[in-house]
Amino acid sequence: MAITIKSPREIELMRESCRRLSLVHDELAKIIRPGISTKEIDRVCIELIRGYGGTPNFLHYHGYPASVCVSVNEEVVHGIPREDHIIKEGDIVSLDTGMIYQGYHSDAARTHAVGQISAEAQKLIDVTRQSFFEGIKMARAGKHLHDISNAIAAYVTPFGYGIVRDLVGHGIGKELHEQPQIPNYAQRRRGPKLRAGMTLAIEPMINMGTSDVEWLDDEWTVISADHSLSAHYENTVLITDGEPEILTLRSTG
Ligand code: MF3
Ligand code: CO
Repeated sequence: MAITIKSPREIELMRESCRRLSLVHDELAKIIRPGISTKEIDRVCIELIRGYGGTPNFLHYHGYPASVCVSVNEEVVHGIPREDHIIKEGDIVSLDTGMIYQGYHSDAARTHAVGQISAEAQKLIDVTRQSFFEGIKMARAGKHLHDISNAIAAYVTPFGYGIVRDLVGHGIGKELHEQPQIPNYAQRRRGPKLRAGMTLAIEPMINMGTSDVEWLDDEWTVISADHSLSAHYENTVLITDGEPEILTLRSTG
């Protein structure tokens, strides 16, 4: 499948799906505290998504059993919510969730600090978030896809962090994962030219140590190979003829 260009009507529906998802994230941010189980986060998330008129798009996606990925500390992405996984003071917690609204997908991730965390952990979270904003400086019609990848990598690399290579960002629209794949590490080729009407989920995943990752026996949870902390930040973005529109970022982020 080629990269889809959304019509004005489709863009309106993407905006609405993404706006509602940003509200879900704002609500989830408020419930992250020591003592909550990752499963409880999932229950709240399902309620919120449905409350905003959406359908959880992660739930049952290739058999994934929840509406949200909750990835704690050395978990990179795709952490499965569990009753017996209790969030504690000092954790860093990545929440990745999405919805379908009137046929259109949205996808976004945030990494939260639980209470007091180390200065090193906070810096990892901040650099990961900022790398997204460095990347989208290149998210403009006429630039090339890998200008985004290279901008993310150029910003992150001097910190000595490991940029995860086994997972990438993606196009998004009627499907959760559409073309193109969007690497967060340096590319030699330019990749496809960006055009107004493309909607992209840009999602750097950054480890404090090695970029290598491993999969747990649950077949979903991705962890850093050296068990170092990992952060994730993602928004669904619309390419326009001017500034990119960050569709999943409204009030906070
Ligand atoms: N946001 C995730 C991604 O784009 C989607 C996870 S799919 C799930 O990689 F099934 F794990 F939820
Ligand atoms: Co995504």
